[in-house]
Amino acid sequence: MSNILGISAGFHDSALSVVSPDGDILYAGHSERYSKKKNDEHLDRDMVHHVLKTYQPQHFAFYERPWMHNIQQLWSGQLHFGPWTAKGAIKNSLNLDIQGDVTFSSYSHHLSHAAAGFQTSPYDHAAVVVIDAIGEMDTISIFNAYYDREGVAHYKLMWRQTYPHSIGLFYSAVTERVGLKPMEDEYILMGMAGWGDLDCARQIAGSMEQMFLTDDLTFNTNFHIGMNKLYFARHTDMDIAAGAQLFTERLIERVMHRARSLTKCDNLVYMGGVALNCVANSKLNMWKNIWIMPNPGDAGSSLGAAALQYGKRLNWKHAYLGTDIPGEYPVLELVHELKTTGIAGVANGRAEFGPRALGNRSLLADPRGPDIKDRVNEIKRRQKFRPFAPMILEEHVHDYFNMPDNMQTSPYMQTVAPVKDPDSFPAITHVDGTARVQTVGKDSGSDVRKLLEAWHAVTGCPMLLNTSLNIKGEPMVNDRSDADRFAKHYGVNVFS
Ligand SMILES: [Fe+2]
Repeated sequence: MSNILGISAGFHDSALSVVSPDGDILYAGHSERYSKKKNDEHLDRDMVHHVLKTYQPQHFAFYERPWMHNIQQLWSGQLHFGPWTAKGAIKNSLNLDIQGDVTFSSYSHHLSHAAAGFQTSPYDHAAVVVIDAIGEMDTISIFNAYYDREGVAHYKLMWRQTYPHSIGLFYSAVTERVGLKPMEDEYILMGMAGWGDLDCARQIAGSMEQMFLTDDLTFNTNFHIGMNKLYFARHTDMDIAAGAQLFTERLIERVMHRARSLTKCDNLVYMGGVALNCVANSKLNMWKNIWIMPNPGDAGSSLGAAALQYGKRLNWKHAYLGTDIPGEYPVLELVHELKTTGIAGVANGRAEFGPRALGNRSLLADPRGPDIKDRVNEIKRRQKFRPFAPMILEEHVHDYFNMPDNMQTSPYMQTVAPVKDPDSFPAITHVDGTARVQTVGKDSGSDVRKLLEAWHAVTGCPMLLNTSLNIKGEPMVNDRSDADRFAKHYGVNVFS
């Protein structure tokens, strides 16, 4: 028995994950954090060498079936073919000729998404919904997932939608339509949506329904080629964003009702890039319980491929699985800096697996007062309409936010929730009165919990503003030298 290496590479945001023979997740990290290329489609050489040397895997699992990917390329008119076998795709991705007694396997794209979700979830039985832009030929999948008596995970496909009928591609096309970068800036489109006029948004969503659909989840347009610039030309970008968000929420709702009726299950495991839409996630009230793995996109599927090779439930504990910056979490230094200047960086412990900083690679600020949002924005140099997120001690969340019934906690910022006293916390309150909440429990896996406890004891406030520690245009800080570079670049103290 030896370790399993899960690989997601060749499209965007490449990643590696390592699972032990006992189902422990030993490592999970993004290539971009090493190469400094945002959403890097290739695996970084230093990362590959570090992971292979440290964990010595003998099983290699790829997150999609290479031959199927090639067929999809052919079908969509893109004649860039990769290898046709798992072995070829893995050797190509790692840029290495792997010798010895090793095995190679590959799994379907949506099945890898599903496994990354179900096998890290607390459920014995779940409806697994995958919605992304495109994976091989699939765009939406509904699985009925369960463990048998031996604990082996099974996935029964109940329904699927295929290319080009894609909610993810539609959302990316609108992202491009309003002047943002598709396959990267979708979260900015979601932030813009809060600024749109609600009546206009309803009107645009209604028009989209009539213009783009032939039935409830089938499009008449291939949004892979983008959206015509003339569409909705008399509306503002904010209104178009709001209309697209509303239309997307309606489509997601249809998928969810379908999944509920097909699986007759109360538990939802939700995966694929569209599951990062935390505004839509706050409206999934047809489910009793919801699990969204902190990395539901393709990078997370590196863990899904390893999970499928492993076969059983993984020992999921937390999302801090990447590069380690060793040392004690600098609680006292951070509290002092936050009290003195209001803003402090932290780079400590293992890096978060997923697109969001959760306290180990974060820029933190006092969320109280009217000027902090502008001060953090000045450092981050991002659009002023975008809100910042709060992190809060889990036991205090209901004093400050109206959490959805089925997501009373949100350890990975999976949902938004209305802010109870927005006037006191303008920095973390979006224009629509909500915030993207991160709850920090005693079992969070990060000593950011100790920081919040100390901050609460000193100030009476159980909350901090939390945004990712990254230089504009670059991925999140990975190691100590990146943290030093950030500190020098922006003149903000970063503590390790
Ligand atoms: Fe995907």
